[in-house]
Amino acid sequence: MRRKLIAGNWKMNGSLAANAALLNGIKAELAGQSVACGVAVCAPAPYLAQCQSELSGTTVNWGAQDLSVHESGAYTGEVSGAMLRDFGCVYVIVGHSERRTYHAESEQLVAQKTVRALQCGLTPIVCVGESLSEREAGQTDVVIGRQIGAVLAAIESADLAKIVIAYEPVWAIGTGKTATPEMAQQVHQALRVRLREKNSQAAALVQILYGGSMKPDNAKDLLAMPDIDGGLIGGASLKAEDFLAIVRAA
Ligand code: 13P
Repeated sequence: MRRKLIAGNWKMNGSLAANAALLNGIKAELAGQSVACGVAVCAPAPYLAQCQSELSGTTVNWGAQDLSVHESGAYTGEVSGAMLRDFGCVYVIVGHSERRTYHAESEQLVAQKTVRALQCGLTPIVCVGESLSEREAGQTDVVIGRQIGAVLAAIESADLAKIVIAYEPVWAIGTGKTATPEMAQQVHQALRVRLREKNSQAAALVQILYGGSMKPDNAKDLLAMPDIDGGLIGGASLKAEDFLAIVRAA
């Protein structure tokens, strides 16, 4: 049985004061409770120290939104996986569609970043997802197959159980449009079939999250699907109340 994971992706939002209020709200609710699902927040790099000091010793994990493909050296502006580990990160998002689109991250680079994250002892949350025009052209399976295929080709089969996948249809991100539970389940199931080709035992263990306008009012139905193992939450992760409602739904 896979444990569900609810991870917030704060994107480029927050401030010391706003994060403190958000994290205190989350901690206050979860303190002393046995939480059935995993809970994590993925913060902008400058706030990882704040996450570390606020969340150490709690049931909430934290992570980053990207990492450098390089180990160290003359790469101005980049943040390495080892640095993320230094600040206690458990997770790192890799290949979010906003990075693929605005920073021209190729399938190859996303695959290499996944490998780098694993080498650094981080759990990569590898994002895949089709655009609206790709869905309308009936290309969803092809696009997702290509995106996940590049990652699967790059990792060792023994490492498959160490990654998390997030299916995030690009047309559902920040738009208020959500994939129906059935639409999402279909893609999640296809992803799992693909994972089995790499390592059938590990495929049963990999958490496949859904992301794209997951909110308190649609989380329960999405999370009830057999291959939806949690959520990667954007907008709704910025309000403690909404984020916690999704955690409760899981
Ligand atoms: P929204 O929940 O704001 O649609 O964002 C989803 C997302 O991109 C999470 O990574």
